[in-house]
Amino acid sequence: MIANKLDKANKFVKENKKNLNTKYRLNYHFMGEYGWINDPNGFNYYNGEYHLFYQYHPYGSVWGPMHWGHSISKDLIKWEYMPIAMAPDSDFDNWGCFSGSSIVKDDRLYLVYTGCHEEKADNIIQTQGISVSDDDRAITFTKYKNNPVIGTEQIPESASKKDFRDPKVFKRGDSYYMILGSNDNFGNGQALMYKSKDLIYWDFVNIVAKSNGHMGKMWECPDVIFFENKDVFIVSPQYMEAQGNDFNNVHSSIYMIGNLELDKGLFDYSTYKALDYGFDFYAPQTLRNEQGKNILMAWMDMWESINPTNTNSHNWAGAMTIPREIVINGDELHFKPFEKIKEHRKNEVIVKDIVLTEEKRLDIYGDSYELQAVFDAQEAYEFGLKLRVSDTEETVIEYNVKEKLISLNRDNSGIGPKGIRKTDINLIENKLKLNIFVDKSSIEVFINDGEKVMTGRIYPSSESVNIKAFSIGKCKIETLKKWDLL
Ligand code: FRU
Repeated sequence: MIANKLDKANKFVKENKKNLNTKYRLNYHFMGEYGWINDPNGFNYYNGEYHLFYQYHPYGSVWGPMHWGHSISKDLIKWEYMPIAMAPDSDFDNWGCFSGSSIVKDDRLYLVYTGCHEEKADNIIQTQGISVSDDDRAITFTKYKNNPVIGTEQIPESASKKDFRDPKVFKRGDSYYMILGSNDNFGNGQALMYKSKDLIYWDFVNIVAKSNGHMGKMWECPDVIFFENKDVFIVSPQYMEAQGNDFNNVHSSIYMIGNLELDKGLFDYSTYKALDYGFDFYAPQTLRNEQGKNILMAWMDMWESINPTNTNSHNWAGAMTIPREIVINGDELHFKPFEKIKEHRKNEVIVKDIVLTEEKRLDIYGDSYELQAVFDAQEAYEFGLKLRVSDTEETVIEYNVKEKLISLNRDNSGIGPKGIRKTDINLIENKLKLNIFVDKSSIEVFINDGEKVMTGRIYPSSESVNIKAFSIGKCKIETLKKWDLL
């Protein structure tokens, strides 16, 4: 029975995908084929193609026993669905195949993930296992017969025995390293580091980083990026408390720039920052491609948020952000839309020198597009854009010159979750640059060449396609460019 779980899930998706309601389906963002998705997993470049796996519950638009969905892409924008890569069908993972990463070893793609096993009612055991690709394109996988490769007996005293998940594996020199999400049993997130020569036998090294008391109760989905002179540690802390305008969502994703001392198993850092300043961004993963670019994708949703494609029975839920290239800039990360997205632009519209003294409806429309706007603030107090506008709906991006704050307001966006997020931004030579990606039920705002990004899901009605610009006091849009995408 249990051995057929994978076939059963694949068959179910094939037979049911025609039953999707497509009203809020995105055009150029990744979504599951049917059912629920959350975290990106095993994000990697292998044999000339990008692989994206993801937390997947194929049987409905809510979270359930986790499978690993799988898609392949040549450019990270256009994806091809693959058969489901893993189902919860072995002893150690029969309650769910939780998040993890992938690594290439001996020309094979290895999936490294958390197996959840129900020991007795309400007692879920999390251990780490591997699954190896059978073919050159990494489409089918065989789980290692002696899983788990790290059991609960290898958890140090000062770490939770229960929350032990989301392995990120990387190779330095001739050793493999694994970083795992954990907490200290007293409500502070932390991450653990293990080391191996073969991905099978692992030794605990150290608690590689931990919360300062204000960085969440449990650290999920750690990730590491190696830049030339600095290392970056990424993690998603659960229930991080708000700090002013930052960390106002239930859960957050943060980065620290520092130095990962591999022999000590210690990440040395002093400050941390948010990876995104909007509403819906969680559990990001990164890969490094052949050109040496570090690219991030994240789940573009949030736990404990209203999900209209579920509540309205559309039979799907969850999407990923567009791929973002991460660039290190002093003690900050900046984010650029992955360049390949430009190759999908069409129907270019360019408007120059739009003088604004009040609200103005622009002669451009859409529910799925990329927009670039350069505002010259001139004498304005406040200015901005209203997108997905109809008589009753609007999603507002506003800059307040005096307060030096930009906001994303989805209170009148449509159905679905509401709210406003704000973050500080300085004008550069009195200018504000916005690069905005709107796609049916999402908005991502890249500010001043990716200094900050604000991401949110919105659910406007299909008539809400107008675009307005506004200003209190005089300002000018120097250039406004719009493209449809894909
Ligand atoms: C993060 C997370 C992970 C876990 C997975 C389960 O969103 O909670 O910690 O592995 O989702 O689907």
